Amino acid sequence: MRTIVTGAAGFIGSNLVDSLLADGHTVVGIDNLATGRIDNLDNAFQHDTFTLAETGVTRSDLGELVGEIAPDVVFHLAAQVDVRKSVGDPCSDAGTNVLGTINVAEACRQAGTRRVVFAASGGSRYGAPTALPIAEDAPPHPLSPYAAAKVAGELYLSAYADMYGLAPISLALSNVYGPRQDPRGEAGVVAIFGCALLRGHPGTIYGDGTATRDYVYVGDVVDAFRSAGAAPETLTGTFNIGTGVQTTTTDLHRMIAAALGVDDPPVYAPARTGEVQAIALDHTAAHQRLGWDPHVGITDGIDHTIAWLRETLDRRDSATPATA
Ligand SMILES: NC(=O)c1ccc[n+]([C@@H]2O[C@H](COP(=O)([O-])OP(=O)(O)OC[C@H]3O[C@@H](n4cnc5c(N)ncnc54)[C@H](O)[C@@H]3O)[C@@H](O)[C@H]2O)c1
Repeated sequence: MRTIVTGAAGFIGSNLVDSLLADGHTVVGIDNLATGRIDNLDNAFQHDTFTLAETGVTRSDLGELVGEIAPDVVFHLAAQVDVRKSVGDPCSDAGTNVLGTINVAEACRQAGTRRVVFAASGGSRYGAPTALPIAEDAPPHPLSPYAAAKVAGELYLSAYADMYGLAPISLALSNVYGPRQDPRGEAGVVAIFGCALLRGHPGTIYGDGTATRDYVYVGDVVDAFRSAGAAPETLTGTFNIGTGVQTTTTDLHRMIAAALGVDDPPVYAPARTGEVQAIALDHTAAHQRLGWDPHVGITDGIDHTIAWLRETLDRRDSATPATA
């Protein structure tokens, strides 16, 4: 299968690229390296079935590029992923996350590629629901420009399905964690706590630590993208990709500290405005229609992530722990 992965040098994208290449597929990565890292693609560059187009998804001739490649599937993961940046500069966020997604849809239309698998955001799609886990039929309620742009991406792809017969699947991802998540990002709390504790810092929890998130391991998320890419083109729509399990921030910190064999308690700081108290996704539809279920439990997932952090942190830098 010939594929394009936008956001190929990013956390989830590079894990998807490796999985596709391992199964013999041809991959063209598209990434402008805004937050992605070229060394996330070290393994990919060992394959002669991989090439990287170091460019943006908003470029005006994206249709020509996609047309030359003639992919069977486009996996669209490229995005501005920082919620706080989206609040600070909503127009720039929409430039990448709305106009970029429209440009990808338009390029697919021009190239005759029907299947697009889009990285939507299940963590921000539903606002602050009280009944959890929440399913896809709940109305979208974006509470930030990032969330609104991601929902807009889903809607544009759906319109392209109706207008031109595109076959989009949007995967509404919960909180993804695992190897290659950037500890300097704003949202990768497993990487942030892991990096901080490895460097002898306690890690900061904003709020009282009772907020919950639905943590899903990146290998499981890659499986979801692969299932969506291989599904019959008659299957379209939005599917939640999460575990349905809520983990509090304090419990998460404790599990990461235990995996590292340390017992440093976290530092607590005032809660940040705009953060939801609890979220968890019902993935029944993904189970039924995509045959997808999460397989990696949080304890094993944390172990894999810590192993990766131990292996790479020194090599990688300079990474100063962020706060979560
Ligand atoms: N990580 C999560 O928990 C999570 C949750 C829900 C949804 N998502 C979505 O999954 C996707 C991947 O997220 P990630 O966590 O791997 O983030 P990431 O920042 O590691 O990856 C995003 C990639 O997109 C690239 N990029 C940014 N702007 C671009 C542009 N204009 N043109 C081309 N490339 C561009 C970046 O360089 C980066 O490599 C994103 O669409 C994100 O919104 C992630």
